[in-house]
Amino acid sequence: MTLAVTQLRKDYPTRSGPLSVLRGIDLRIEPGDALAILGPSGSGKSTLLQIVGTLDRPTSGSIRLGEQDLFELGDRALARFRNRHIGFIFQDHHLLPQCTVLENVLVPTLAEAGKRDPALEKRARELLARVGLAERLEHRPAELSGGERQRVAVARALIYTPELLLADEPTGNLDCKSSQAVGQLLVEMHRQENSMLIVVTHNADLARTLPKQMEMNDGTLAEWNPAGR
Ligand SMILES: Nc1ncnc2c1ncn2[C@@H]1O[C@H](COP(=O)(O)OP(=O)(O)OP(=O)(O)O)[C@@H](O)[C@H]1O
Ligand SMILES: [Mg+2]
Repeated sequence: MTLAVTQLRKDYPTRSGPLSVLRGIDLRIEPGDALAILGPSGSGKSTLLQIVGTLDRPTSGSIRLGEQDLFELGDRALARFRNRHIGFIFQDHHLLPQCTVLENVLVPTLAEAGKRDPALEKRARELLARVGLAERLEHRPAELSGGERQRVAVARALIYTPELLLADEPTGNLDCKSSQAVGQLLVEMHRQENSMLIVVTHNADLARTLPKQMEMNDGTLAEWNPAGR
């Protein structure tokens, strides 16, 4: 599956007229590709990731994932498509506090199946072993370190083997050491799964671990120029 973003625009209505946050974004990513997006606060990075992740709709423009034109789908079909094909990792882990680590990784599957599926449970255990949490399956989020919580979030994002993995400031709340570990883990997991990966980050070191970097400035994407400012 290829991701093709074409002339994507997003305007927010405000009291002083429409605010143009994305001003015609074009982007193409192939399976196995990874891209870091940097850029100043307020430049539109999260807005872009939310729309690519289908959590919001654009004002105009299109996104195709494989053969599917995402925004031609109605809300329910889009939610189902997202659950299967797109994995999301946020700055905050978004884990359910009352659920165990293993249950949290299975949360995306409960919405669909409504009951436990042994094959998915096996996949969840394997993923948790691969992110180094085989010994933490029955812990609750409050009983984990920040880095461990983020590793659970990575495993949860991968449960359905998504073609597209999106991370918005995945290391933003972590100290330097766990930040590196989570960054490395993301890259490793995306390579092993041959998924497409987009990481929004302020962390230039993390960005450099990915093969490609771009910079968002005032709603447009350009090549990253580290010495640019
Ligand atoms: N729902 C909304 N309504 C109106 N304006 C919005 C809305 N969401 C975001 N914005 C505006 O869009 C701009 C881009 O926001 P966005 O969150 O995409 O920035 P960002 O690049 O992710 O910044 P940061 O690095 O601080 O996370 C900001 O100026 C913000 O105020
Ligand atoms: Mg943001």
